[in-house]
Amino acid sequence: MRRGLLTGGGDCPGLNALIRALVRRAIKDDRCEVIGILEGWLGMIEGKYIALDRLKIAGILHRGGTILKTSRTNPLKIENGIEKIIENMRKARIDVLVAVGGEDTLGIAKILADRGIKVVGVPKTIDNDLSGTDYTFGFDTAVNIAMEAIDRVHTTAESHNRVLVVEVMGRHSGWIAIESGIAGGADVILIPEKPFDVESVCRIIRRRHETVNDFSIVVVAEGAKFMVDSDVDGSFILQDLEKDDFGHVRLGGIGNILAREIEKRMGIESRVVILGHIQRGGTPTAFDRVLATRFGVEAAELINRGEFGKMVALQGNKIVGIPLEEALAQTKTVSEDFYKVAEVFFG
Ligand code: F6P
Repeated sequence: MRRGLLTGGGDCPGLNALIRALVRRAIKDDRCEVIGILEGWLGMIEGKYIALDRLKIAGILHRGGTILKTSRTNPLKIENGIEKIIENMRKARIDVLVAVGGEDTLGIAKILADRGIKVVGVPKTIDNDLSGTDYTFGFDTAVNIAMEAIDRVHTTAESHNRVLVVEVMGRHSGWIAIESGIAGGADVILIPEKPFDVESVCRIIRRRHETVNDFSIVVVAEGAKFMVDSDVDGSFILQDLEKDDFGHVRLGGIGNILAREIEKRMGIESRVVILGHIQRGGTPTAFDRVLATRFGVEAAELINRGEFGKMVALQGNKIVGIPLEEALAQTKTVSEDFYKVAEVFFG
C-alpha cells in the first residue's frame, strides 16, 4: 500500500523522528513506498510531493522542525478543498494518508475518513492538549526549555529583588506552564483553565516577600485570562488581530500586562520573558524522540492491520490506536487536582 505522509499545524520537536520511524517501518519488511506531502494540507491540495526513501530520512532523528515543512492551511477554506485532496490522492496513487498534527489537522483527517478515505492520525502538539493520549511528542522538549529558562531567570530575580514573569505557550491548556512551573519552582502559576485576578497574585507575592524571600517567579500561559470581573479585561491577550485559517487568534503579551500591574500595585521592580517559539525550536529530548518513534512504527502497523480512521496514542506505557473522534472530542485540560499540587508551592 502506497502511503502519503503530511505534517500540519505548528512545527514541533520530534516530527522528523516520526517521519523517519514511519518510513523505516514501511520499507523494512513491506517495501512500501512513502510519499512525503509538503506543507501540510496545502501540499495535498496543490500536489507538492517528495519521495521519502532511506536516503531522504538519513540523519534527521535529532533535528527539530519537519523536513516535510508545514502550514496552517485549512482545506475547508479553499473551494472544493476536500474534493481536491481526494482527487490528488487518486492521481498520486496514494492509498492511505498519514496525517500528523493537532486538533485542526486531525479534524480534516476525520472528515476524509468519514468520506471513506483511508487515513491514520498521529497526535502532535507542544501544548499536549489532545484527548485520548497521555502525552504528545514535542511537549517534553517544550517543558524542558521552559524549565531551563525559569532556572536561568532565578539568578536575576534573586540578585535584583525582582519579580520575573515568564510567559510560556499554551492556548487552551496550561500543561507547559504547570509542568515547567513545578519543575522550575515557580511561586505562582497561571493557566487558561483558571482565570485569575491580579490582586490575588499580588497577595501571594506580598506574603512571600514579607516572610521568606525578596524575589518571585511567576509563570503564565499565553492563553491565561484575567477574571471577567477583575479590573483588567477578561479576554485573551492578543499580539494582533490576525486570525489563522482555522480561526485561531495570535496570543501573546499577557506577561507584559501582568508584570506592569504587579510593579504598579506593589512597587516591586518586575520584568518579563516571553519564550515564544524558542519552546518549539531545536532538538527534541530523548523522551520525545522515543515517543515519536513509537508513534511512527505504530502508525505503520495500523495500516498493515487495515485499521483506518484511527489515531495512535500513548496510554500508560502502551501505544494504542483510538478512533479519531475520541481524540477530537474535547480539549485535554489541566485537572483541579494537579493544579492543587502546584498551589502547595505558591508564595
Ligand atoms: O499549537 C501550538 C502552538 O505553539 C500554541 O501554543 C501557540 O499559541 C501557537 O501554536 C502559535 O502558533 P504560530 O506559530 O502559528 O504563531
